[in-house]
Amino acid sequence: MVKVKPLIGKEQIASKISEIAAEIDRDYADLDLVIVMVLKGAICFAADLIRQVTVPCDLQTVQCSSYGAKGAERGELTILGLDALEISGRDVLLVDDIFDSGHTLFALQEALKKKEPNSLKTLVLLSRKIPRRSDFRPDRSGFSIGSEFVIGYGLDYKERFRGLPGIFTLEEE
Ligand code: IMP
Ligand code: MG
Repeated sequence: MVKVKPLIGKEQIASKISEIAAEIDRDYADLDLVIVMVLKGAICFAADLIRQVTVPCDLQTVQCSSYGAKGAERGELTILGLDALEISGRDVLLVDDIFDSGHTLFALQEALKKKEPNSLKTLVLLSRKIPRRSDFRPDRSGFSIGSEFVIGYGLDYKERFRGLPGIFTLEEE
């Protein structure tokens, strides 16, 4: 049995996204914004964000997965879609669902840098407040959470629950 409890409601997410979109409109007014969203987890966040941003914005994707459907357990990181990215000389905002160990976002950022964007920033909806060895942090994060496993609004547990309208904690009983 799993126990699911609400953590961040859809209204709270919507108002945070409006706030972040306003910052993006201000920061990228005269730039060539490309949002690179990380599939699949960032799907809801990016979809809502691009509907709030008013500056011109190109949406591109990469797909990242920790090998296999292991649920809460992490495997080897694979990145798909790097070759198709058109970001050279452009202003990239890399958008992911959650900054956990930071391994995914760091690896992605390093891979994108090799394509020589004009600028590169990182944005996540959720960031865990946990001790980390590295100083690497996202440039912007929506909400801080603890070590609890979360689902919904794009985030999955074994590929399920991505369609939940808000963020929920999931505990195995
Ligand atoms: P990191 O590489 O450890 O930062 O992990 C980032 C990736 O792990 C995220 O993009 C998520 O796909 C996944 N992840 C980490 N924590 C959770 C969680 O609580 N629920 C669902 N997916 C998670
Ligand atoms: Mg994921």
